[in-house]
Amino acid sequence: MRIRLEHVTHAYAGSDVSAAVQVLDDVSLEIASGDFAVLMGASGSGKSTLLNLIGAVDRPVSGRLLLDDVDTSSLDESSLTMLRRTSIGYIFQFFNLIPTLNVFENVAFPLSLAKMPRSEIKSRVAEVLKEVGLGNRASHFPNELSGGEMQRVAIARAVIHRPPLILADEPTGNLDSKNGDMILDLIREIHNSRRPTIVMATHSERAAAYGDYVVEVADGKVNRGSGVGSRVSEKEPGLAPTPDPRLPTPS
Ligand SMILES: Nc1ncnc2c1ncn2[C@@H]1O[C@H](COP(=O)(O)OP(=O)(O)O)[C@@H](O)[C@H]1O
Ligand SMILES: [Mg+2]
Repeated sequence: MRIRLEHVTHAYAGSDVSAAVQVLDDVSLEIASGDFAVLMGASGSGKSTLLNLIGAVDRPVSGRLLLDDVDTSSLDESSLTMLRRTSIGYIFQFFNLIPTLNVFENVAFPLSLAKMPRSEIKSRVAEVLKEVGLGNRASHFPNELSGGEMQRVAIARAVIHRPPLILADEPTGNLDSKNGDMILDLIREIHNSRRPTIVMATHSERAAAYGDYVVEVADGKVNRGSGVGSRVSEKEPGLAPTPDPRLPTPS
């Protein structure tokens, strides 16, 4: 899915005008379909705000968000809800699993909303749980899992409906480095096999290295690095982004 932000400004209302928090100031950004973009910036710089706007969870105060050329400002709430359900998978720092549902039910949730037949839900969930290495944990509850396992369940839930866009907000922020690396490897595998657009917010350099390029978020502005990620050489040649001619050829 292609993402286009045009002159997006966002602020949160405060108790009065002077307390309003200006977060994004005339931001324009394009992320091509199939890109794995990384948002980097200090805590409070607006990464989560930007993800919530891209995911149509929030509407910008001004400016437009286009998803595959659909101007989301023209959509009403129910169309936006439908868009989120069918086209977007969200991964959070604190996993956000539903504690009263077991692993199977958590992962099945997006498909249940789509009213998919039970038999198809069963086979899809089994398939994706195997993919994240939790094929034998379907009947367990979130509180019986480690953090890394909970995040793998959350990833399974984010991809089960095969969304063309995956948003990840500090997905390793609550994990030790070993589990964090496993999660990043898994996100990369999903990107390689299914080719969704991925936008991942992080403040870890280690996590950022998994993406194709970094978009710096600071002082209400975004700045897309011209460098393409170290991963480009691993991709099929036809899918590699065109190198920036201003850059020296990587050795
Ligand atoms: N719901 C909200 N109401 C008021 N201010 C908010 C709200 N959400 C975020 N902010 C403020 O907006 C700024 C950016 O926050 P956020 O997007 O969460 O940054 P990041 O994810 O980079 O840490 C911060 O100053 C934060 O305090
Ligand atoms: Mg955040």
